[in-house]
Amino acid sequence: MTNRILPFITLVFLSTLFSIVIGDDGVAISEQYPLVVSTWPFKEAVRAAWRAVDGNHSAVDAVVEGCSACEELRCDGTVGPGGSPDENGETTIDALIMNGVTMEVGAVAAMRFVKDGIRAAKLVMQHTKHTLLVGEKASAFAIAMGLPGPDNLSSADSIRKWSTWKENHCQPNFWKDVVPSDSCGPYHAKARIDVKEGGCSTRYLMGVAEPRSSLVGPHNHDTISMAVIDKRGHVAVGTSTNGATYKIPGRVGDGPIAGSSAYAVTDSGACVATGDGDIMMRFLPCYQVVESMRLGMEPRLAAKDAISRIARKFPDFLGAVVAINKNGVHAGACHGWTFEYSVRSPATDDVEVFTVLP
Ligand SMILES: *[C@@H]1O[C@H](CO)[C@@H](O)[C@H](O)[C@H]1NC(C)=O
Ligand SMILES: *[C@@H]1O[C@H](CO)[C@@H](O)[C@H](O)[C@H]1NC(C)=O
Repeated sequence: MTNRILPFITLVFLSTLFSIVIGDDGVAISEQYPLVVSTWPFKEAVRAAWRAVDGNHSAVDAVVEGCSACEELRCDGTVGPGGSPDENGETTIDALIMNGVTMEVGAVAAMRFVKDGIRAAKLVMQHTKHTLLVGEKASAFAIAMGLPGPDNLSSADSIRKWSTWKENHCQPNFWKDVVPSDSCGPYHAKARIDVKEGGCSTRYLMGVAEPRSSLVGPHNHDTISMAVIDKRGHVAVGTSTNGATYKIPGRVGDGPIAGSSAYAVTDSGACVATGDGDIMMRFLPCYQVVESMRLGMEPRLAAKDAISRIARKFPDFLGAVVAINKNGVHAGACHGWTFEYSVRSPATDDVEVFTVLP
């Protein structure tokens, strides 16, 4: 090796080691892949995905390994079995997987009696020409395709939580403009009084809606949403969640909706999101992030733009997105809460947790 080449190689080596740079708002950026990014400090899930992708598995398989680890560990008590009871005390599962190369998507929503959300979503993607299966029919499909079940998805913890909520007259809840407003159902639409004023009809609704902030928070509304870029530069995303605690049975949020909780297009990048899914799914924030990056926007701006579009209409919403471009540059943005996300790349020895301030 000549003296002229050695310093060059050293430089390349050092730039690999120190590829984490601090962005101007303190968000670190690592320009490398393979890469695993996940909402929240779900470190074990990120490690599981990393083992797969570092061992040369595809981005899709790494997403399955990562989200599956979260389901087994019941991350934050809101992913996998035994979390977030609905109004009837039942736990159900929503999950999604998306292949950013082929644009194939598989998802299950309000799935009962089956613990393996992400594996069920992958079976939908691999073995059907559909995108989304729901409810008990999704459970029947998953079990017929070999997943364990039917299982009781309740835990002592979820039943305890639900009993306490029932004793508290089913407060808070997700109903609005109904009677009764201060106790358990059955609920009925509240009478509307139309008052004519100068030829215009003004509608008065009686009563005050329950603020959403009492229902949506980091410990009753969490989703693992994960993005992986594999060694070939292929991108995939996946999500798994129990949905909102005390939801009205049948409610499906952003979790299994491609473009809302997650999105991946290998030539542009990926996005993962979490928060108040009922509101976020009206804006498809992850579709917006990936599309903005396709048009040339930096990840940091793309993330901020997607969040601010929602905040303009819903100033009280809680939510966060992480934008990841095809080179592995990532940045988060959030609203209403402090958000954390986890990253594993060749630049570090273990999972790093980034904090994003609203
Ligand atoms: C990983 O995959 C690449 C491309 O398919 C191949 O060249 C390489 O040898 C593989 N590495 C390992 C450790 O299997
Ligand atoms: C499911 O498990 C919960 C918690 O262990 C228990 O309270 C409930 O009775 C079980 N339901 C059925 C149908 O076995």
